[in-house]
Amino acid sequence: MIRNDIKNDFPVFLNNSGIVYLDNSATTQKPQSVIDAVSRYYEYDNANPLRGLYSLSIRATDDYEDAREAVRQFIGADSVKEIIFTRNTSESLNLISYSYAENNLKEGDEVLVSILEHHSDLLPWQRVTRKTGAKLRFVDCDEEGLITEEAFKAALTDRTKIVTMTHVSNVLGVKNDIKKFAEIAHERGAVFVCDGAQSTPHMKIDVRDLDVDFFAFSGHKMLGPMGIGVLYAKEEILEGMDPFLYGGEMIDCVTRLSATYAELPHKFEAGTVNAGGACGLKAAIDYYNSIGIDNIEKRELELTEYAFGKLTAVPHLKLYGPATAAEHHGIFSFTVEGVHPHDIATILDESNICIRAGHHCAQPLLKYMGVQSTARASIAFYNSEEDIDKLAAALSEVRGMMGYGE
Ligand code: ALA
Repeated sequence: MIRNDIKNDFPVFLNNSGIVYLDNSATTQKPQSVIDAVSRYYEYDNANPLRGLYSLSIRATDDYEDAREAVRQFIGADSVKEIIFTRNTSESLNLISYSYAENNLKEGDEVLVSILEHHSDLLPWQRVTRKTGAKLRFVDCDEEGLITEEAFKAALTDRTKIVTMTHVSNVLGVKNDIKKFAEIAHERGAVFVCDGAQSTPHMKIDVRDLDVDFFAFSGHKMLGPMGIGVLYAKEEILEGMDPFLYGGEMIDCVTRLSATYAELPHKFEAGTVNAGGACGLKAAIDYYNSIGIDNIEKRELELTEYAFGKLTAVPHLKLYGPATAAEHHGIFSFTVEGVHPHDIATILDESNICIRAGHHCAQPLLKYMGVQSTARASIAFYNSEEDIDKLAAALSEVRGMMGYGE
């Protein structure tokens, strides 16, 4: 059960009375406990982690490594060596592209991406395939956004070396069967990368069960601070990879002309780390655990079904993606006939309703859908039926405000 007064945990709602926040896929709001954890770190334990031999620095190191352990447990990884802190999902995916793909791809190899990808899971692969002479191939979705097993198998070839796919689409909300796709990719000898930015905040993640080789996500989309993200990768793969960024703290021994690198995971964390952000992310995980990810998932499903009913009843509104409510996973992309999505967002803002409008950093998908931009409402467990009623009511007024009749 989610408490009725759950929004009181989030200062932004207390400081912005009446706001209806439905842009959770872009970033979530932060509970007080996360804000306090970041402050607490700087107020009590701040020193440069992993370097100092004095107690304050050791406490800073412990805070940082406790956060890593919390992440490990949260996603079911075998070892903290498999948890690399990055800035965000984009950086995690770039790390794979620079440190793994660039050294493992050659001319004629193929990287398979899905048409659903956010630019963060496309541009790193465009770069590395250009650089190595490998080929970038796409698997398309059906009209509802679903990637079928048949389409996936047909897109794989003997040359596919890397498959990369989002867990949940940030535009359509559709969820890919990552476990099945990873299994098929492995049978064909390819490694599997999963962009978990839109799934980790909303459902139980078990990287061992999914059996993905790489899994990337951001702290800020799951109640944590901006500037902290995670790359999970299997230890044996990380062991064989070169560092991504070079400099402080990622070394073992340095001579004038060469260096050996630190053990995992530090080999991939050059420079002073974001310990305050890691503490915030740990507090976010603690908050998830205090509510229970199952309860969050259940509540978000209720809200998703409620929103699906309300939105599909708005005249002249076209909803993209799955035809069934549950498949939307809290994400609704839509257009209103005759009204530009940017105008929809601006008009809704007058009623204190926050949604996103545009291409959602997924231009190839929007082109494939035959649309330049959409408006998007995205839900989190702290939203309410009342938020959705306000959204639907405001959407019903949009055409009138643009001068259309009934
Ligand atoms: N990836 C974020 C979104 O979909 C920013 O809005």
